[in-house]
Amino acid sequence: MTKIGLFFGSTTDNTATVADIVVEKFEDAGFEISLTDIGDAEASDLMAFDYLIIGSSTWNVGELQDDWDIAYEELDDLDFSGKKVALFGVGDQFGYGDNYCDAIGILGTKFRELGAELVGSRDVDDSYDFYTSRGVENGRWLGLALDEDNQDELTDDRVTEWVMQLVGEFDLD
Ligand SMILES: Cc1cc2nc3c(=O)[nH]c(=O)nc-3n(C[C@H](O)[C@H](O)[C@H](O)COP(=O)(O)O)c2cc1C
Repeated sequence: MTKIGLFFGSTTDNTATVADIVVEKFEDAGFEISLTDIGDAEASDLMAFDYLIIGSSTWNVGELQDDWDIAYEELDDLDFSGKKVALFGVGDQFGYGDNYCDAIGILGTKFRELGAELVGSRDVDDSYDFYTSRGVENGRWLGLALDEDNQDELTDDRVTEWVMQLVGEFDLD
């Protein structure tokens, strides 16, 4: 059975594009990974995986992407104890600098409450230019923050580094 499951929610396909890049990087590194649009799945489908990668854009000023908004309610019935969860977010830091990639924080808080161990946290380095985000905790991103609207040229390198980090934190190597 594939052990890594990537579930994403995407309204205008930016998060879907990033999800494809994440999959490509894991496959290049020799790992099998399953890709699912959460809009076509049930939250309970997440339970099939020990290692989860969760991607969501942020919409409506600080809200989850619509499909994750629906799945979010269903998560409460599930127990993620023993599972490792890595989050990535796609947002617009220049247009929504007070809520940039809030979805990372909304989902990260939820998965942790449900017993998951969060992995894949990142530095808030100088390449970012925003004011506040629910995705930042103690000065660090809880996951990987991306910006296809303003910094798509940085995505490939950011994802490459993050996937290498996850291979280590998932204990896959
Ligand atoms: C009405 C509207 C509200 C948005 N709100 C936010 C927001 O609060 N935070 C953020 O980081 N990005 C926000 N965005 C930007 C989207 O998250 C961004 O365009 C993202 O790439 C969309 O990804 P998707 O196509 O995968 O859904 C918003 C965009 C629109 C049009």
